[in-house]
Amino acid sequence: MDKQEKLERRTHYCGEVSAEHLDQEVTLCGWVASHRDHGGVAFADLRDHTGIVQVVFEAKFGKILRPEQIVMVRGFVRKRPADTANPRLPTGELEVLAHRYRLPSPAETPTFLPDDAEAGEEVRLSHRILHLRSQNMQKNLRLRHRMLQAIRKTLEKDRFLEVETPILTLATPEGARDFLVPSRTQQGSFYALPQSPQLFKQMLMAGGIDRYYQVARCFRDEDLRASRQPEFTQIDLEMSFITAEDVIKAGESMALEAFKAVGLKLNLVESKKKKEGKEEGKEKAKEKKMEVRRINYDDAMRRFGSDAPHMGIDLELIDIKEAVQGCDFKVFAKPASQDGSRVVALPVPGGGKLSRKQIDELTEFAQKLGAGGLAWMKINGPGRGAAGVSSPIAKFLGDKVVDDIVNRTKAQAGDVIFFGAGEAKAVNGYMGPVRVRLGEIMNIIKEGLWPVWITEFPLFEYDASADELHSMHHPFTSPLHHEQLAHWLEKEQLKDIKSNAYDLVINGIEIGGGSIRIHDPTMQIQALQCLGIDKKEAERKFGFLLETLRIGAPPHGGLAFGFDRMVAIAAGATSLRDVIAFPKTQSGQCRLTEAPQPADEEQLYELGLGPKPKKTK
Ligand code: AMO
Ligand code: AMP
Repeated sequence: MDKQEKLERRTHYCGEVSAEHLDQEVTLCGWVASHRDHGGVAFADLRDHTGIVQVVFEAKFGKILRPEQIVMVRGFVRKRPADTANPRLPTGELEVLAHRYRLPSPAETPTFLPDDAEAGEEVRLSHRILHLRSQNMQKNLRLRHRMLQAIRKTLEKDRFLEVETPILTLATPEGARDFLVPSRTQQGSFYALPQSPQLFKQMLMAGGIDRYYQVARCFRDEDLRASRQPEFTQIDLEMSFITAEDVIKAGESMALEAFKAVGLKLNLVESKKKKEGKEEGKEKAKEKKMEVRRINYDDAMRRFGSDAPHMGIDLELIDIKEAVQGCDFKVFAKPASQDGSRVVALPVPGGGKLSRKQIDELTEFAQKLGAGGLAWMKINGPGRGAAGVSSPIAKFLGDKVVDDIVNRTKAQAGDVIFFGAGEAKAVNGYMGPVRVRLGEIMNIIKEGLWPVWITEFPLFEYDASADELHSMHHPFTSPLHHEQLAHWLEKEQLKDIKSNAYDLVINGIEIGGGSIRIHDPTMQIQALQCLGIDKKEAERKFGFLLETLRIGAPPHGGLAFGFDRMVAIAAGATSLRDVIAFPKTQSGQCRLTEAPQPADEEQLYELGLGPKPKKTK
């Protein structure tokens, strides 16, 4: 150990050693990514977050290296012999010949090596620290940081104020279950962790903050998926005296800047608004104003069967109710005659080459999502009528209907058309995903980021089984046309009211959403009444909000972006776990700390949640 010396400070990062340091003495600190012993001489790939550099330990040092060992080393930078250079590393032509070193920390044999692609998800989560050292996690967390800095910078420029809101609070209805925290001082009472800072940010507007933002941790006890975590981060903002247009613009520039900061561009469309008039000079007309595409909710459902459509797939649903009305094929004819039902065709260029097996698999996929089946029709050649197509249903449809469908869908020889028929919600429920699945199978999903704002969501969703209305967004969202809520309507009509709410979707993933809020206390009470919350209950549950609205709340609105989802898209990650330092599993556990854990008896007793333990401290 006498060769270990006191080395305190690093002079250079591993990945930043370059030709300009040749013959210079450097002190490097890092982990042994790998090492090779050659007759006593050892070569270590020393790794820190900037990269890797080779360090040579001569035989006199003995066998000191272990995988993932921390090494602080001093030595001279030299050129590697040409035949040993590693062209895959930026530092690959150099190495550092060690003359002093220090091993400051123990290094037990690691369960897996950080960049070992074979290590399973479970083991990586249990030994998260090793995984954090991997190139992928290092890249993703740094990407996350850069995106956040860009967002902060944009919001600062746009005069937003960063304000923190409470974590121990009252339930905010965002549609998920609450995490509850028992109160010791008021036994039997509970705080809820915020599902979002929604009501606090609205109250901040009434408090004269004007423009608020927060990098807000939100908690939702819901069934987890790859795109959901029980605690996650929102970029949450709210603005006073604005229209939906202002909020959309603020959100859009924030998103553009965040992706730009990591070298990514969103695919934009030419702005339809403020198009340069004909009378203006040609020069001006050339300056195209680009923006994120916008589609209203009804159109999105009609064309893509989804309120979060992937815009990088050039496939669209086409309504063919009129074409199949009264035809002999009951699967189509029945829904064609009913309100609230759809019969849609999904033409797929070149899809005629799909095999029976592929079609069967797609049918199974649709059936799992509630489809009765997935009728299809391959267009063979220029021939007309049923003879011109291959399809199990052509003979039931008849020549005229087949021709009509082919004309409406503009399908060509070599294409296939898939069909969905039934109650509109059900048809959208499987044809939306079938469209995306076909994009994958046909390999026609366009590269890049395809954002879209979905606007004019319905205010309420009608649950026929319970004869209840639910908020599509949340109960504080304003209707698009204020007067609509003012006269009392039946539930059936209420479900057709549009809200002033908007979502940002990128590549089929909902990145964020927001709305203009109700700022009139009478309308807020009415909106709650529509949801089955009477005036008394409204005062009891949301009295603090109603009082805020009564003492003068500016017209206001805002939105929240799911930051983890944004980063995952930018990183090309398939799971939010890959962009969160300490994520939770599908069952909501932290494998590293093994939270949650049972509480001890004494704690439970103190909280009024259990009997007095036999032995108290
Ligand atoms: P919303 O409930 O739509 O709106 O949430 C905003 C965005 O947060 C992200 N998100 C999640 N990300 C990871 N894990 C989850 N469990 C999770 N749940 C939601 C999504 C979503 O688009 N207060 C309103 C916003 C507003 O009106 O201003 C709200 O919370 O990307
Ligand atoms: P069936 O009459 O149920 O044997 O269905 C005849 C054809 O229509 C089969 O190819 C089914 O896959 C298809 N089919 C059945 N129900 C639907 C539906 N709701 N939407 C689209 N196709 C369907």
